[in-house]
Amino acid sequence: MGSFKKDFTTEDDKNIKNNEDEPLNGPAGFASSKEEGNGTEGRQDSFDNPVRPTCFDEYIGQTKLKENLLIFINASKKRSSVLGHHDLDHLLFFGPPGLGKTTLANVISHELGVNIKITSGPSIEKAGDIAALLSSASNGDIVFIDEIHRLPKPAAEMLYPAMEDFKLDIIIGEGATAKSIRISLPRFTLIGATTRAGLIPSPLRDRFGFSSRLEYYETGDLAKIVIRSAFLYGIKIDNEAAFEIARRSRGTPRIANRLLRRLRDYMFHLKRDAVNFDVAKFGIENLGIDELGLDNNDKLFLRTIIDKFGGGPVGIETIAQAINDEKDTLEDVVEPYLVSCGFILRTKQGRIATELAYKHFGLKKEDFLF
Ligand SMILES: Nc1ncnc2c1ncn2[C@@H]1O[C@H](COP(=O)(O)OP(=O)(O)OP(=O)(O)O)[C@@H](O)[C@H]1O
Ligand SMILES: [Mg+2]
Repeated sequence: MGSFKKDFTTEDDKNIKNNEDEPLNGPAGFASSKEEGNGTEGRQDSFDNPVRPTCFDEYIGQTKLKENLLIFINASKKRSSVLGHHDLDHLLFFGPPGLGKTTLANVISHELGVNIKITSGPSIEKAGDIAALLSSASNGDIVFIDEIHRLPKPAAEMLYPAMEDFKLDIIIGEGATAKSIRISLPRFTLIGATTRAGLIPSPLRDRFGFSSRLEYYETGDLAKIVIRSAFLYGIKIDNEAAFEIARRSRGTPRIANRLLRRLRDYMFHLKRDAVNFDVAKFGIENLGIDELGLDNNDKLFLRTIIDKFGGGPVGIETIAQAINDEKDTLEDVVEPYLVSCGFILRTKQGRIATELAYKHFGLKKEDFLF
């Protein structure tokens, strides 16, 4: 329990961090452009923070999901007049990286006006960490567990009675003198996020009151996200360029924001004062992004299946070895979009490149058959 403070971020911690980065409260924050941090473009890119939506009005797209969540939130807020706190059921969000799962958890805590405690599956080592996390919450708090599929088994099992009855069973002592005591927990709402819903044990999945997949974004919605982000970063952009970025971003806000930042660099390089269509075209070509938003990694993945393995079926481990990449990254980050484009099939025998994939490279499948 001693390490609790170190492990879990609270809303207050986040505010401190955001203030250090750059406060963005309304139009005053829109004017200035923010310089990039350490240049990392990883999954939890802190440079994304200035543009991360904080309320539903700023959260673009995912319309049906938003509509449902607002209904649940409003109803649970109504009940809080009797209970003294909201009783929003536990929520599970799944889907490929960068689509807005973490953002949604933050938006929900903001809409409910409650604290959010943030942690992730891999940072929870033992059941005691779950006990520490939950017992330090207050009634109504959101507890957000990212990558929940990576919770160790004893920790996941500790969650079952906690989610269902808001109780924890704790064993004290060892051997013959061991005693089990039951402690009551505050009425917390767990929000879980994962890129791999299939890896969540079913007793855990069943205890969420609502689960939803986040979908890839429509081009129009992504263009709105790009225009909003450009405003927040202080980058001038025209509509044509915003749509071009949106089309090339694999339906993913994180990728769209990243591409926007790269095009800002090309804008400086080309000595322009705005990201316009020419800047977008130049930058996108230099980055090797094709008309469907596939980058060099995606292309290498597909071409490896086609050129080295006769179009498949080929196992994911074999592909990972051939292109010197991590199997998990390929499965979580690269494959989902290629599957959604209809470029690969995931079968029991392995991955198969479809006719569409060949066509995308101007190839014919029959030319590769011997
Ligand atoms: N609906 C949205 N409207 C505007 N911007 C969004 C939206 N969803 C996501 N973003 C932007 O995309 C970034 C990535 O979103 P987020 O971190 O929530 O993705 P994620 O689904 O949690 O990804 P991961 O699985 O990698 O954790 C956010 O910082 C935010 O700037
Ligand atoms: Mg996330």
